[in-house]
Amino acid sequence: PRSIYLTRHGESEYNRMGRLGGDSPLSENGMKYARRLREYFEKENVRDLRIWSSQKIRAAQTASFLKDLAAHTEFWKPLEEIDAGICEGLTYEEIASRYPKQFNDRDKDKYHYRYPSGESYEDLVARLEPVIMELERQSNVLVVSHQAVLRCILAYFYNVNPSELPYVKVPLHSVLKLTPVAYGCNAETIPFNI
Ligand code: G3H
Repeated sequence: PRSIYLTRHGESEYNRMGRLGGDSPLSENGMKYARRLREYFEKENVRDLRIWSSQKIRAAQTASFLKDLAAHTEFWKPLEEIDAGICEGLTYEEIASRYPKQFNDRDKDKYHYRYPSGESYEDLVARLEPVIMELERQSNVLVVSHQAVLRCILAYFYNVNPSELPYVKVPLHSVLKLTPVAYGCNAETIPFNI
């Protein structure tokens, strides 16, 4: 059976600072994760592996460690993180103090809340629809992307309600391995101790 592997990029410089979005490179820990991820895929020995990565630096850097293990590596714009608009590059504390109304509105309805000049989870689901359609038709794929995007992809395969989707846990430095079975999907989480 074929598998879909999902991972976030390794820890980035912005992750370390608690800043949203941006386009920062991997931290030392993030590099370490990319190396461990490579070792994992060397052992998995996946036939005809396709890597689909977000175009953000932190994702592309993570994917680049595995390049020669894959039949193809492609960089997809639609796999980029949710666009936080005017809140890009801020910490949650900064958002709460600069834009308290926005902060509360998001808390009330996280799925539909759209960042000013940015996106909502609902927008993200629409943007990901073609990617998910293509994922369903492919054989073995590793998706290297971001937390909000992976929440939407998981929600699709597990029929998670929109109200719960923005809270699905997708930790850094772990691989989610989905294997479609007769009625649904088996999932395995492989955590890496970095
Ligand atoms: O940087 C964005 C996060 O991956 C999404 O987190 O939607 O829980 O704020 P959030």
